[in-house]
Formats: sequence, C-alpha cells, structure tokens
Amino acid sequence: MSFEKSLKKPKVVAKYALAVRVFHWVGALLILLAFFAADLNDDYIGLHKSIGASFLIWTILRIVTRFVTKTPAYVSAPAWQNMVAHLTHLALYVAMLAMPITGILMSMYGGYGVSVFGLFELTAIVGVDRDMAKLMNWWHTEFVWSAMCILITLHIGAALYHQFVIKDNLIARMR
Ligand code: HEM
Ligand code: HEM
Repeated sequence: MSFEKSLKKPKVVAKYALAVRVFHWVGALLILLAFFAADLNDDYIGLHKSIGASFLIWTILRIVTRFVTKTPAYVSAPAWQNMVAHLTHLALYVAMLAMPITGILMSMYGGYGVSVFGLFELTAIVGVDRDMAKLMNWWHTEFVWSAMCILITLHIGAALYHQFVIKDNLIARMR
C-alpha cells in the first residue's frame, strides 16, 4: 500500500490489554449463553442463574482489570462520537452489573437459593418479599434487559460502521 493510501485508511494498532480483550469476548459469550438458558424452559433456570451469577463475578473482575491496565487513546473521530462511545460503554457496564444483581435479588426476595453450578450457594442478603421479588422481576426481564439489548445493538452497529464505512479497523483494538 502506498504512503498516501495508508494515510487515507489509518490502521488502528493500539490494542486493549490482553486480559481486557479476553474479558470482553468471554463476557459477550456468557450473556449469549445466559439468554439461551433463560429462554429454553424451566429445567434450565438453575443453569441460567449459575451462568448469570458467574457473569457478575466476571464483570467485577473485568472492571478492576479495566482500571489497572492501560487503555489505548481514542481513535481520531469527532469529539461527540468519542463522547457517545464513552457513555455507551459506561451504560453497558451498568447494565452488565444490573442484570445479574436484579436476577439474584429477584431469587432471594422470592425465597429461592442461588447456587453457582452446585459448587457454592450465595448467602441470602434479603428476606422473602413478594412485592420486591415482582419489582426485581420487572427490572430483570423488562427494563434492564431491554436497555441492554438497545445498548448492545448500538454498540455492534458502531463496530460495524467502523469496520465497513470508516474502515479504520477499530475492531483490532479489541481482538
Ligand atoms: C448475564 C446475566 C443475565 C442475563 C443476561 C439474564 C437475562 C434474562 C432474561 C432475558 C430473562 C427473561 C427470559 C424470558 O422471559 O424469556 C431472564 C429470566 C430470569 N432470570 Fe436472568 N439473566 C441474567 C442473570 C440472572 C441471575 C444472576 C439470576 C439469579 C440468580 C437470574 C434469574 C432469572 C430468573 C429466575 C428468570 C425467570 C423469571 C421469570 O420467569 O419471570 N438471571 N433472565
Ligand atoms: C459482535 C459483538 C461485539 C463487537 C464486534 C464488539 C466490539 C468492540 C470494540 C471494537 C470495542 C473497542 C471500542 C474502542 O476501542 O473504543 C469494544 C469495547 C467494549 N465492548 Fe464490545 N463488542 C461486541 C459485543 C459486546 C457486548 C455483547 C458487550 C457487553 C454487553 C460489549 C461491551 C463492551 C464494552 C463495555 C466496551 C468498552 C471497553 C472499555 O473501554 O472499557 N461488547 N467492543
């Protein structure tokens, strides 16, 4: 590729730390698995809860890793786009915490235990409360889940826009 061409289509090389990249892709896979387990039938709800609770632990470790590793500088884009990207990422982290937390609280308020693959059981931190269980059910299955779906759609849409319209190979930062 000529020098001029390489200027027109800058190749993004700065990458997130390896640990951040592993957290990102395994996290996405866990959400997909949790979604399928929730949608199968009631026999799989234990599996759904195990995957979901593991996802909470995964997300906490992920956020810690994000803070202790060096993040590549923004790619050159209009300031408003960087701002939208930043806010979307922030909202994704909130949703990634809120999804399992509302799920766990829904179970605990409902008087159900939360076992993680039969290895250990989460200690109930709240007593039985049908109204709160119902509220958490709404947050979990309606509000937070819808918000998460919208955010993921925006996020993947932006990644595709970078890949196929801007062609700046942004995805390499996370690969
Ligand atoms: C990555 C995290 C999670 C995601 C993405 C997720 C997603 C979902 C979704 C989409 C549903 C609705 C399924 C449907 O109605 O077809 C659901 C239901 C449910 N989730 Fe989660 N969930 C997660 C974590 C958890 C956790 C940690 C628990 C509890 C320990 C949990 C407990 C439940 C229960 C009991 C239901 C059934 C609610 C009902 O039938 O009304 N979830 N989840
Ligand atoms: C096909 C699916 C996906 C693709 C192609 C993708 C791609 C990317 C890329 C390229 C970045 C780096 C953005 C940048 O450098 O500014 C990124 C960051 C991020 N992604 Fe994804 N992603 C996908 C799915 C997901 C899912 C399902 C989630 C969570 C629900 C997620 C959460 C995040 C978060 C929170 C960041 C920000 C990282 C940080 O700076 O802390 N991604 N993703």
